[in-house]
Parts: sequence; C-alpha cells; structure tokens
Amino acid sequence: MPTADLTLPELVAWGERFGASLEAPALVTLAGDLGAGKTTLVQAICRGRGVTEPVTSPTFALVHQYAAPAAPVYHLDLYRLKGPHELANIGWDDVLSARAVVCVEWPDRAGDTLPAPAAAIELSHIPEAPDRRRLRW
Ligand SMILES: Nc1ncnc2c1ncn2[C@@H]1O[C@H](COP(=O)(O)OP(=O)(O)O)[C@@H](O)[C@H]1O
Ligand SMILES: [Mg+2]
Repeated sequence: MPTADLTLPELVAWGERFGASLEAPALVTLAGDLGAGKTTLVQAICRGRGVTEPVTSPTFALVHQYAAPAAPVYHLDLYRLKGPHELANIGWDDVLSARAVVCVEWPDRAGDTLPAPAAAIELSHIPEAPDRRRLRW
C-alpha cells in the first residue's frame, strides 16, 4: 500500500488530483479515527470533481449528494449507523448502483454489504507530527 505523511495543504492537493482522476462509477472508502481527515479528504475529492457547493459532514443525514460535471458525488458517513439493516433507509442500493463517485466514511459499519471499492483509503494521526496525517491507499 502506498503511504505518505501529508500536511493539510498536501492532503487537500492529493485529494483534488485523486478526485479528478476518478472515473464514475467508483466507490471510495475512507477509514480512520475521528479527526484523521476523512471529511477533509472528501471535500478535496469533491473539489477535484468540480463540486461548487459547500461540502459538509453528513454525520446526521448519513448521506449527502452533490452535483458535478461528470457524475454526481455521494458522501456517506456511517459512523452513526446502528447496523447494516439501517442502510435500506438511506437508499443504499440506489447509491451503490448509481453512475457516481461514492465516498464512504466508516465503511466497516456497513458490514459485508459493501462491494469491493475502487480505492480503500486509510488515514491516521501521527503522534510525533500533529500537523500531518498518514495516508495509505
Ligand atoms: N495534515 C492534515 N490532514 C487533514 N486534516 C488535518 C491535517 N492537519 C490538521 N488537520 C485537521 O484535522 C481535522 C480533520 O477533521 P475531519 O476531516 O473532519 O476528520 P474525520 O472526518 O476523519 O473525523 C480538521 O480540523 C483538519 O483541519
Ligand atoms: Mg468525518
């Protein structure tokens, strides 16, 4: 797995390039602790896709959808999911079958209902470098 320890502007630049390179349909999972930078990276991916509206954390809605020139972007945060059975309520099957870029924070909450992603990203804190995050993909 490629690994890089990135500052905030470096992570944002990486995410914008990565987002621009994706071809829909594409599922991208983002694993990592609270504050590891998952939402920050999704915001950068959205910018790279050409999303112009503000991208906010879907912690309570679980899913947000953004229009973009090539294909819509879905942003899911499954942190508060009580179990895979709740996925039906958020239109999970429609999201996964859409020709879209689908970014999922806390993918482990979906259990085995998640297909193999195009990219499985892991972010983590670096104790000795609080201004950087370790990115694996
Ligand atoms: N190198 C970095 N990469 C990403 N975020 C960083 C970095 N350094 C500091 N931060 C800060 O860490 C926080 C990450 O929050 P967020 O993206 O919401 O994380 P998560 O969605 O994983 O809980 C933001 O406040 C961001 O500004
Ligand atoms: Mg988040």
